[in-house]
Amino acid sequence: MITIKSPQKARQLIAKTKAKGLCLGFVPTMGALHRGHLSLIRKARAESDFLIVSIFVNPLQFGPKEDFRKYPRKIKQDRASLLKEGVDLLFFPESAAIYPEGASVFVYEDRLSKVLCGKSRPGHFKGVSTVLVKFFNIINPDIAYFGQKDYQQGVIVKKLVADLNYNIKIKILPIIREDDNLAMSSRNVYLDDKARIKSRCIYQSLALARNLIRKGRRDTDKIILEMTQLIRSKARVKIDYIQILDANSLTKLNLINGKTLIAVAIYIDNVRLIDNIIINVKK
Ligand code: PAF
Repeated sequence: MITIKSPQKARQLIAKTKAKGLCLGFVPTMGALHRGHLSLIRKARAESDFLIVSIFVNPLQFGPKEDFRKYPRKIKQDRASLLKEGVDLLFFPESAAIYPEGASVFVYEDRLSKVLCGKSRPGHFKGVSTVLVKFFNIINPDIAYFGQKDYQQGVIVKKLVADLNYNIKIKILPIIREDDNLAMSSRNVYLDDKARIKSRCIYQSLALARNLIRKGRRDTDKIILEMTQLIRSKARVKIDYIQILDANSLTKLNLINGKTLIAVAIYIDNVRLIDNIIINVKK
């Protein structure tokens, strides 16, 4: 595995690889790799000739009061995992190479970014969109892989690729869960044992919604109310949102119909956790 920090050098090596007609797979990450990342990397490894993984804790996608400084950084461990997975290139840039002094051009998606996490984390998706456009320009992958846990991010990336005319296939892969059903996330390390027990209410509320829908319930307000009551009965947590939206347009649904996103964000002891399920209800 080659490790490159410089965007220029990465671009040169990748241009040579592309010239050979190889299929380039790309998995962007912020490191602290877990089984969720590894599932993306394994799928990408199986589908591409040359596999690039980036590790970059992107300062632009963190709010001023968020956890940029304490975000887990485990480069030694991550490098070992990437080597084991047969990754060809680790792109590991410095912040200054991605955001040069005086940088004033940013990318902002103007509709899908305004709901769900975009409401509670202003500027977050501007940071994600900007860094991904930079990475797509440097790496020029054929396929890029993202996890369904950040479902909204995946929808925004697909829109960004379509609207900005990139020739990149975006693949969103299923959520990988811990044994207690908590969605895998680099932030799970912040949770102590008590918080971890509280976190079970997230998946329980999603499972409840799925059961209600399977039994024929379609009224989203009532389903959200039951999910809220379940969470409140299980643990003292701060609910950021519980929403049921059209999974493509991310617009609110009154009655469930078609491909539906059920998304939850809660704070447990100041740790923000998100999770979701997608349900297809025949129209
Ligand atoms: O999902 C993430 O880890 C990040 O948002 C990403 C896509 C690597 C951009 O910084």
